[in-house]
Amino acid sequence: MSSEKANDVFISILSFLLIFGIFRILPCHKEETNKPKMVEKDENEKEDEKQEDEKSGFFHAVKDFIHDVGEKIEEVVGFGKPTADVAAVHISSINVDKADLVLDLVIKNPNPVPIPLIDINYSIESGERKLVSGLIPDAGTIHSHGEETIQVPVTLAYADIKNTYHDIQPGSILPYRVMVDLIFDVPILGRLTLPMEKTGEIPIPYKPDVNVEKIQFERFSTEETVAILHMKIENKNDFDLNVNALEYEVWLGDVNIGGAELPKSATIEKGGINFIDIPVTFRPKDFGSAVWDMIRGRGTGYTIKGNVDVDTPFGAMKLPISKVGGTTKFKKKKDCDGDDDNKDK
Ligand SMILES: *[C@@H]1O[C@H](CO)[C@@H](O)[C@H](O)[C@H]1NC(C)=O
Repeated sequence: MSSEKANDVFISILSFLLIFGIFRILPCHKEETNKPKMVEKDENEKEDEKQEDEKSGFFHAVKDFIHDVGEKIEEVVGFGKPTADVAAVHISSINVDKADLVLDLVIKNPNPVPIPLIDINYSIESGERKLVSGLIPDAGTIHSHGEETIQVPVTLAYADIKNTYHDIQPGSILPYRVMVDLIFDVPILGRLTLPMEKTGEIPIPYKPDVNVEKIQFERFSTEETVAILHMKIENKNDFDLNVNALEYEVWLGDVNIGGAELPKSATIEKGGINFIDIPVTFRPKDFGSAVWDMIRGRGTGYTIKGNVDVDTPFGAMKLPISKVGGTTKFKKKKDCDGDDDNKDK
């Protein structure tokens, strides 16, 4: 009986030891593996046992690294998000039909690995009006530790803009906002969109108005006649035009009497008027009676067509000039001595 009881007690003690032992062994073991790390840690950190566990060991570090990669990567490997800016918007060419713009996008990649740029999508707005938008796929790769300027060509077609927005006046200057989204594929971080924008102004150029006030004959013969066309030119733009040259062809009635390319320096202020004298040399005997009738003052119709090369605050432009079926006075030089009323206007 007593041996049976002793046996029970023994089993109980054994069980106790066994169970207690298992619970003791585990924390003991854990404590030992943690020991080297614990040494470095202060009181505060000890409190957060859970976090301690996460951070201990290589695999935890990797897990941490992957979970919290956005920040970790920057600290640990020197990884960072690329940065970008619309550094400049150039007007590469502009005329009454369209403006070709080039956006200079400066992109910096601080990372030790190249970053593929997936898409560039952009839009240009003026107020609430969308002027143009587009997307450039596979725009290239930004080198590691690199800075690159990507040039994005954008064309503003004025006909489209004027057809869409009737309130946009030719000759006016539009404020604009360029918005660009760069979509990168950054290793580990994944797809990243970098938005940026820049504002500026773009003109909607308008062709100058021209009228020939009078045609004056400098030298007159059937072999060679030199006539000066006193052309009134009106700048219908909200910006100054500095005329450098003009190209023109002239018709009397419907006879083309020739034309020329003429270097000419003149400034026509915004909304202003200027007078430019343009010479034409022709042989009246080559032409029929219509020209003679014109010269004798019996006909009046003239046509002038051409271009003016101008500098503007927005760059150089070639603007068309044309006047079809205009009427004018014909004068001999002797009639006009002292008649310089509009030369310096
Ligand atoms: C880029 O495309 C997306 C999707 O079409 C659009 O939501 C976003 O506004 C575009 N960004 C720009 C700058 O046009």
